[in-house]
Amino acid sequence: MRDFLTRLPKAELHLHIEGTLEPELMFELAERNRVRLPYADVEAVRRAYDFDDLQSFLDLYYQGMGVLQRREDFHELAMAYFRRAHAEGVVHVDLHFDPQAHLARGLPLAVPVEGLYRAMRDAERELGLSTGLILAFLRDRPAEEAMDVLEAASPYWELIDAVGLDSAEMGHPPSKFEAVFRRAKELGLPRVAHAGEEGPPAYIREALDLLEVCRIDHGVRAIEDPELMRRLAAERIPLTVCPLSNLRLRVVRELGELPLPRLLEAGLVLTLNSDDPAYFGGGVLDNYLACQQAFGWDEATFLGLARNALEAAFMPEPRRRELL
Ligand code: ADE
Ligand code: ZN
Repeated sequence: MRDFLTRLPKAELHLHIEGTLEPELMFELAERNRVRLPYADVEAVRRAYDFDDLQSFLDLYYQGMGVLQRREDFHELAMAYFRRAHAEGVVHVDLHFDPQAHLARGLPLAVPVEGLYRAMRDAERELGLSTGLILAFLRDRPAEEAMDVLEAASPYWELIDAVGLDSAEMGHPPSKFEAVFRRAKELGLPRVAHAGEEGPPAYIREALDLLEVCRIDHGVRAIEDPELMRRLAAERIPLTVCPLSNLRLRVVRELGELPLPRLLEAGLVLTLNSDDPAYFGGGVLDNYLACQQAFGWDEATFLGLARNALEAAFMPEPRRRELL
């Protein structure tokens, strides 16, 4: 099964590029950029990755990305991830990045965007990967700031495949970002949003109705709302679920508690993704393998999940036809 899942052409639709920062690269960049880290060594970093919930992870995630200072750092970060993903049989990646987290540290928007964009083109040329870029807004910061970032990104609108919504979910419903997402729609940008990770099913409904998203990131709490499940299935809205993330952020106590088999039986379009692989102990392949262990799915089920991801990815149609 491991060979089959490795060879299976997989698309990763839910990945935060800042969440691919492995402790080894964190130390290298900290030294190069003279950033002080609150850890003695790589082992101490790994020991600190014992999270109680989403917020306890986010605190370390925002701190860790402080070592990213120059375009070259973002390029190196993304290339290291693309190489690992390619080795696991990943053929396409839609990557989120968090511009506000970098602007707040005093970096110009050009630094992350241009570093990442160059890595995306290099990965296409060197590895044959296709990629999409998702500019994500931090939902625990003011909506006006998100709007300012969207406008400031005007030189890059052409390079962006979609906008997204991430960070601390509870108390920050999608409705807060209705105007920002309306503006993104006017600009012709597709929209995705994290919803139903820690937040209630009502947040998934808001993301659909008010933000007009084409995919829901996570969405596992849809299981609490049968009517919503019927709607997600009927409208074929993909959920980008991240099993190892849900486990490490204690959304569930064990993988077997995740409602993925029931969501599949109800006809929902699921995809398997890694979220923040450096923090949650595994990439896309590990997430597929963990589901095999937890749910005993057969090859046909995994073929269907991988196909869902290729169908829902932000990629040009000729590329999709080549992969499907
Ligand atoms: N930012 C990075 N990873 C995230 C997650 N799992 N949920 C919300 N925001 C995030
Ligand atoms: Zn996420």
